[in-house]
Amino acid sequence: MKKAYEKYIPFVPIKMKTRQWPDREIKHAPIWCSVDLRDGNQALVDPMNLEEKLEYFHTLVNIGVKEIEIGFPSASETEYEICRTLIDGGHIPDDVTIQVLVQARPHLIQKTFDAIQGAKHVILHFYNSTSTLQRKVVFHSDTAGITQIAVDAAKLIYELSQPMIASGMDLRYEYSPESFMGTEMDYAVEICQAVLENLHATPEKKVILNLPTTVENCMPNYFADEIEYFIQKLPSRDCAIISLHPHNDRGSGVATAEMGLLAGAERIEATLFGNGERTGNVDMVTLAMNMYTQGIDPKLDFSNINKIRDMYERCTKMKVGERQPYVGELVFTAFSGSHQDAINKGTHYMEESNSEFWEIPYLPIDPADVGRQYEPIIRINSQSGKGGAAFVMQHNFGFELPKAMHAEFGHIVQVETDRVGTELKPDRIYELFQTHYINATTPYQLIRHSFAEFTDDDGHSHVTFAGTLRHKETIFSVQGSGNGPIDAFFNAIHGQKIDRFTFVDYKEHAITRGSDSQAVAYILLRDQAGRDVFGVGVSHNINLAPLKGILSAINRSISGC
Ligand code: KIV
Ligand code: ZN
Repeated sequence: MKKAYEKYIPFVPIKMKTRQWPDREIKHAPIWCSVDLRDGNQALVDPMNLEEKLEYFHTLVNIGVKEIEIGFPSASETEYEICRTLIDGGHIPDDVTIQVLVQARPHLIQKTFDAIQGAKHVILHFYNSTSTLQRKVVFHSDTAGITQIAVDAAKLIYELSQPMIASGMDLRYEYSPESFMGTEMDYAVEICQAVLENLHATPEKKVILNLPTTVENCMPNYFADEIEYFIQKLPSRDCAIISLHPHNDRGSGVATAEMGLLAGAERIEATLFGNGERTGNVDMVTLAMNMYTQGIDPKLDFSNINKIRDMYERCTKMKVGERQPYVGELVFTAFSGSHQDAINKGTHYMEESNSEFWEIPYLPIDPADVGRQYEPIIRINSQSGKGGAAFVMQHNFGFELPKAMHAEFGHIVQVETDRVGTELKPDRIYELFQTHYINATTPYQLIRHSFAEFTDDDGHSHVTFAGTLRHKETIFSVQGSGNGPIDAFFNAIHGQKIDRFTFVDYKEHAITRGSDSQAVAYILLRDQAGRDVFGVGVSHNINLAPLKGILSAINRSISGC
């Protein structure tokens, strides 16, 4: 008995002795054409209504797409209506060309011409299927018959377009040998050449030849070979713009498009987030942003990707996956501790080195470039390391914890993630920080205090501290002087029960939230047993913050933090 997988016919690559595309680089953006409103729309459970299509169209225009396939006007009254509304409603900017699709069938072509009356710039896109399989199974026709369909359509389109062109319409043509990837390449060249000739293509009036992977059936390198071969063999190459229309059945639509560009293609038909028949069309966002991350201007604006995603989800009722490149909910999130640590280090490196390049491990792109927030880059769960919590404190709340404190606070957060068993949101991390450090105000609390400061003739400053402290129910006063507020405070508590701590380290900085600027002091003390403990004090007064920090450390130590 045959095994189930043996029923599949493997793709037969064309024989290429030499190929140039592997040595080439993508250096500039292709001509982009959106097929969201046609290929994308036809694949929706509920196709978009007029309002949704208009909203989608305007978003594409704002992104900077200059060629937009708006639909299949001959296919239904709704499609016709949408085409008319776009034209009559003045929705199409002067620098945008609408594209309309039609099968290579006379009555549909005629209706399509009716639909585009009055438009300024139009690409009339017609197609028929050319692959061996389609010829055998669907059309029961030989290559001559299939070519005849394309040539007849080309002749009719040329004829019908002349009066429109004469009346000032910028009307161009596009032909797709549908199922190109499964067509014998020499035949694909033959039919496309026949179409070019019948549309009177010239180097000045090029015709778009759109070569689709209608169903992606081979590895992208084989497809690139087909494109390079096709381009080499096409007699009127200089009269054509080579366009690609990749679908994504094998999940390699992006690679197919990129390798196809290397092989000489100049234009890409794509959709936002890869919507389209079955597994979708190639994703325009991924393709464009892949170029962007290689230092190439994609000529499309995805600087507010969330807004575009919201529009997409609202209009199509589709969902963008959490791991969808550049836009998914989780794509700027690192759960692994070592990744978090490296991101943290990369961020510091960027700040310190003032590097003009993006050099942060695990983040192929600056989230800000697509309008994403920096905050959710790191999410804290039980897999996270000590650096992650500190990173959240810095990037979400402006607290720059000293390096030595990362492990201590990381442990507090870790215990909590183990306890709750879920991810901790930044606000919860802040709460933990508050509870464990800033609000560590028992048993010792500073009730009131004053400082007196003077500088002697040698320029040395002397500070005197006088304050009232509470220890549980007992209130007592202390006084001391030193060369600064911290020294004075330490000397003041000398002789009290709390003087068994030694001062190890101190860091203070300002935190600004809105117009409210406060100082935060991180104090590291060592107890008699040699154990280190951190305390944190926050105050509008920069002299008071460290004192609160000292008491926070003492209180934490006493309560066995
Ligand atoms: O996928 C395809 O082949 C198409 C054609 C109509 C271009 O959508
Ligand atoms: Zn398609």
